[in-house]
Order: sequence, then structure tokens, then C-alpha cells
Amino acid sequence: MSATQDIRALTPPDVAARKGGVPLVCLTAYTTPVAKIVDPHCDIVLVGDSVGMVLHGLPSTLSVSLDMMIMHGQAVRRGLARALMIVDMPFGSYEESPEQAFRNAARLMAETGCAAVKLEGGEGMAGTIRFLTSRGIPVMAHIGLTPQAVNTFGGYKVQGRGEASERIVRDAIAIAEAGAFSVVLEKVPEQLARRITADIAIPTIGIGASAACDGQILVVDDMLGMFTDFRPKFVKRYAELGQAASVAIAGYARDVRERRFPAAEHVFGDIPKALAGGAAA
Ligand code: KIV
Repeated sequence: MSATQDIRALTPPDVAARKGGVPLVCLTAYTTPVAKIVDPHCDIVLVGDSVGMVLHGLPSTLSVSLDMMIMHGQAVRRGLARALMIVDMPFGSYEESPEQAFRNAARLMAETGCAAVKLEGGEGMAGTIRFLTSRGIPVMAHIGLTPQAVNTFGGYKVQGRGEASERIVRDAIAIAEAGAFSVVLEKVPEQLARRITADIAIPTIGIGASAACDGQILVVDDMLGMFTDFRPKFVKRYAELGQAASVAIAGYARDVRERRFPAAEHVFGDIPKALAGGAAA
């Protein structure tokens, strides 16, 4: 399969045109099988740098590398037919200069087939967003709680309460004017999300930012309940797969220890069934 996105897939302009319309449905994915499951239901599939915490057990997203994003991006690409695929630019791959950002974003697009990249930051990143978008790289911005700045914030705290809301409004206006085609608003109060959504012409995609946004995104493993020890307020769990997997694995362990698995139907005989007049060998 070619690395480029299928021509039938949604494009960044399609997503931008959904401003104020039916809310955009977005989830993360990091692997081919999960990409295949989410694709028919989603408008956007994000290969988020949350992959570092979710799949690799890292304490934050800070040590996620460009090579990791490329490897997971390639895996997700193989599972998508319709959704717009966006890949996160990891910490350290874009902040130094617009030229560094272009070089690494171009690598992400060429090697994964994604149609756009996402990067964190507001006013301070507007110049870089303008540099990328004017050179053929569609950019989704990410403001509010930007997890790559966790050390600056002193934790994964709600951003933009009270006076601090003005800074985030300025961020939103700056990235929209710079040419971003959409923006993730993470962990901000509902009133602020509503104001920004009304003030800018591009879709806002909320995570912990209320239904006032133009779309929603969640980490797929969070909404599927893969973790028993991680329950943020903004995540609605649509399944308890972690618990279901634990029950299934306990059953397997019991069966193996008690020699109930493998049973007769899982075992190969000496003479293939087809030769012996049976159906499958
Ligand atoms: O890395 C990620 O998964 C994200 C989303 C949660 C927005 O940035």
C-alpha cells in the first residue's frame, strides 16, 4: 500500500468546512487493528503522542521520538480508508525554528501518509504554523492544557480559569489567523470553550472542554476502559475492556493449569481430516 492517504478520505478543508455543523468525531489510534475499528465511525484519527504513555508506559509525552510517531503512523495508515489521519509532532521536533518544524513535519507526511500534523502551542507557535501552512503542511493546533508543557504548568491542570482565559483566547485567535485548519482545546472551562468556538472561524475539537466545541476527541484506550487506575473526569467510558481482558486471561490461565485447554477441537490429528473424509485439516 502506498504511504499517501486514500483519495476518498476526508481532507483538512473538509474538516474546516464542518465549523458549526454536525460535531466532528475524533479518536486516537496507534495500531492497525484499532485504526480499522475506529475508521468507519470517525472523521479524524489522531496518532497522538499520548502513545508514549498509553502503549509504552512512559510517565509523560516528553520522551516520545519522531521515529516512534513514524512507526505508529505507518501502522495506523494501514488501517484507515476514510478518516482524516493526523500525526502529532513530538516534543523537541518543532519548537526550535520553523525550518526544523518543516523538516520534521515533511518527514511525518512522507513516511506515514498523514494528511496533516498537530503541534502544541498558541501565540508562540503562530509563526511556525504560518510557515508550515504556507508550504503545504496542514496544521491542527493544540491549546489550553498542552501536555508537552506539563512541567511549566506543574501538572495536568485545568487551564484558562479567570484572568488566564484571555491568554488562551489570544492563543486561539493567533493560531487561527496563522492558518491552522482546526484546534484541539484541552481541559478548559466550558465558558471559555464556548467563547473561543464562537470567536474563531476554524473548528474547535474539545477534550475536557465541553459540548460547546465543534467536535470531540478522546484517547481511544481511555474511552474503552483499558485502564482500571486512570479515570479522568472528562472521559466517558463506553466499555470496560481492561476488566473484560483480565477476566478472559484469568480463564485462560485456569484452563491451562487444569489441562482444559487445549481441548480436542484445538488439536491436530495424525491424519488430516480432509483425507480422512472430514472437512478441514
Ligand atoms: O496525544 C494525544 O492523544 C492528544 C489528544 C488527547 C488530543 O493530543
